[in-house]
Amino acid sequence: MTHMTATLPETLEKAATVEFRGLRREFGATVALDGLDLTVRPGEFLALLGPSGCGKTTALRMLAGFEHPDSGAVLVDGEDVTQVPAHRRDAGMVFQSYSLFPHLNAVDNVAFGLRMRGTRTAERRSRAAELLELVGLADKGERYPHQLSGGQQQRIALARALALRPRVLLLDEPLSALDAKVRLTLREEIRRLQQELGITTLFVTHDQEEALSVADRVAVMRAGRLEQCAAPAELYGRPATAFVAEFVGTMSRLPGELKDGTVEVLGQRLPADGEVPDGPVDALVRPETLRVAADEQGTACVVATAFLGAVVRVTVRLADGTEAKADLPAHEATGLDAGTAVGVSLPERPVLVAARTQK
Ligand SMILES: Nc1ncnc2c1ncn2[C@@H]1O[C@H](COP(=O)(O)OP(=O)(O)O)[C@@H](O)[C@H]1O
Ligand SMILES: [Mg+2]
Repeated sequence: MTHMTATLPETLEKAATVEFRGLRREFGATVALDGLDLTVRPGEFLALLGPSGCGKTTALRMLAGFEHPDSGAVLVDGEDVTQVPAHRRDAGMVFQSYSLFPHLNAVDNVAFGLRMRGTRTAERRSRAAELLELVGLADKGERYPHQLSGGQQQRIALARALALRPRVLLLDEPLSALDAKVRLTLREEIRRLQQELGITTLFVTHDQEEALSVADRVAVMRAGRLEQCAAPAELYGRPATAFVAEFVGTMSRLPGELKDGTVEVLGQRLPADGEVPDGPVDALVRPETLRVAADEQGTACVVATAFLGAVVRVTVRLADGTEAKADLPAHEATGLDAGTAVGVSLPERPVLVAARTQK
């Protein structure tokens, strides 16, 4: 496996700030963006995360200039670029599917934008060589796309996106067509490269694990709007809404009763956060916070166990039929076979309380 080298052809003089202000875009009856507000800080690696169809690609294309809002504005370093055409936006973009020109070799693919700009042959060849080295493919310049693996093609696409020294790097699900192992390696390398270049980067993904692992901050989108933007640990530990809580990481819903800032759940009374009125609620609980232990008097029972490596994920069914997931260290999970009666407890406050979902 080749690795992207640390020899850099450039560092940016000043990283760009990007602002989306009230972006709205309809396609017929579909509202793709419904007032998106988001600021990307200079040099930041920001992941745009959300379910398919929530408007991620539309937002990215608006920054690149391929798409225009019905209302709202895109600003780069405070300058309104909403009406600036794509070729004058200074954005480098990498797409999900391999978008290399099949009839051009790697060098010519990387140099394509430079050629369009009228850069002299010698200069664009040397620039392409630098970039191929940057992405660890210095020896593959003569290869055509069909002679390269998926991961290599995406590295070339990355080199091509960086060739024009863009002020922002836009990555639209660049890893989703790759197999799992390549996906992991390449995302780490993209992250390292981004940090070295210091380039403001928007990385679109629907994969929450990918977003949390690479980004400085993650912006969770839902139905064309921003739901929450926060650093990965905050998003995971202190999600602002039930949607974020359940989209990011694994979460179980346990029925509870909310009263005066506390929730009664699993026979315990715990402090609780959430913007719902007192009464029946669901307590949202992470699997690593639930305790499960064999107990002949226990009213819950084990439904299934799954070995996940460092932990065993135990699915339990509570007396009322609710199922919950608990991650236990392997030594605590021995003997917890399906059917075992168990006691379930929660030693800390739930992540959030939310409106009770009907069963
Ligand atoms: N050119 C288009 N014509 C019609 N509908 C579109 C077009 N582009 C996007 N949409 C719709 O807008 C919504 C948001 O799309 P998109 O931004 O691609 O979402 P995401 O990238 O989050 O999956 C979807 O419902 C999609 O079908
Ligand atoms: Mg998309």
